Amino acid sequence: MQERPPYFLTWSAQHNARPLPVTGGEGCYFTTDSGERWLDLGSMTYHVNAGHGERRIIDAVKAQADQLCVSMPNADFPAKRLLAEKLLQIAPPGFSRVFFTLGGSEAVENAIKIARMVTGRYKLISRYRAYHGATLGAVSLSGDYRRPPVEPALVGALHAMDCYCDRCPFGQQPGSCRLECATHIADMLDLEGPRTVAAVFMEPVVGANGVLIPAPGYWQRVRDACDQHGTLLVADEVLTGFGRTGRWLGLEHQGVTPDLITLSKGLTSGYGTLGAILVHDRIAQHFDHNVLYAGLTGYAHPLACAAALAAIQVYEDDGLVQNAAALEPLLRDELTRLRDRFAPHARFVRAIGLLGAIEFDAPEDRYLALKAALTRRRVHAFVQKASRCLILAPPLCIDEDTLKLGIQEIESALAEVFTPQGDDTP
Ligand SMILES: Cc1ncc(COP(=O)(O)O)c(C=O)c1O
Repeated sequence: MQERPPYFLTWSAQHNARPLPVTGGEGCYFTTDSGERWLDLGSMTYHVNAGHGERRIIDAVKAQADQLCVSMPNADFPAKRLLAEKLLQIAPPGFSRVFFTLGGSEAVENAIKIARMVTGRYKLISRYRAYHGATLGAVSLSGDYRRPPVEPALVGALHAMDCYCDRCPFGQQPGSCRLECATHIADMLDLEGPRTVAAVFMEPVVGANGVLIPAPGYWQRVRDACDQHGTLLVADEVLTGFGRTGRWLGLEHQGVTPDLITLSKGLTSGYGTLGAILVHDRIAQHFDHNVLYAGLTGYAHPLACAAALAAIQVYEDDGLVQNAAALEPLLRDELTRLRDRFAPHARFVRAIGLLGAIEFDAPEDRYLALKAALTRRRVHAFVQKASRCLILAPPLCIDEDTLKLGIQEIESALAEVFTPQGDDTP
């Protein structure tokens, strides 16, 4: 086991936690200092969408370092301007300004501030199974297990039930569903008192908490309710953005225009630390004559801007968004095959683009056992006890053969951990 390092490991009790000594990588694989080669089915932390060792991005960052390496928040330079223009092209029509941050949490944090400044209200609605980030405002919106330890959270942060079709909190089945989960948010907006909620924050597809894919029409109903109450709608695309769901933005599947879009992760594919908020013109205009009380020393760092521009170029040149869409049926079919083989422990499969999950009904120790079995096979994927899920989110440059190979490894890990159907005779 690795020695305990002189820095904190995140989201862990430090006693038994150990880091992975990563040394580099190429495409869908990363390497460690002992020469191990790991298949990365998680894109590290759902963010290395362009894959490891991508020379085109590395070279762009190096060239930017030679040209201009430091700046200040209100400096103008080509990479920053070009990136803002590019992001506004990716956004739905009507978006006119970008606010840069250092990562996803700060994008959410500043979106909260913008929503409060624009509406003059303080309440915020998000959902229980959401993860919106680790800073105090963002974690207040996060509904999951990471919020209670740091409560009291932000005053006014309210949580709604989720669009969790496989275990519908409103007891519905696909055939009987009337989008009760969206109506529930509309009801909350009504019951909180007319015109008191600044914004509703939602991930287009709930990512790290179990890949929850909303039914068609869900976002539209929430959009309508927000419009009725003058409440802003924020799409947190930190995880779903940049091709993860087979579209540039996850919300394209729902055809709804939000007021703010938060981005990070795939924005630089991990080659720089950067987040962004795309701001619809009707919101941006507020700040023409009102001070925008927001800013960061590392706002739009030149190296991060160069990394983002190059990453987006790689997505375009290599057709990675299309690749994610093309591989979705294979991912879904293979996960469904595994679900059938490992039922009743494996219960549900959800997949969109290159984001997929198998949800289990299993005793707690099985999740740790599955994690260990994957580690022995040098496969990086997410095994999450809280959501009872195994989640896959490989780099978008993965090909069919590598994806199949990854699924085979997962199948063998599952076979080690769960008794396959029909094989339970001694
Ligand atoms: C949807 C979503 N929002 C925000 C964040 C926070 O981003 P960061 O870790 O870059 O602060 C994450 C991170 O996983 C996320 O998945």
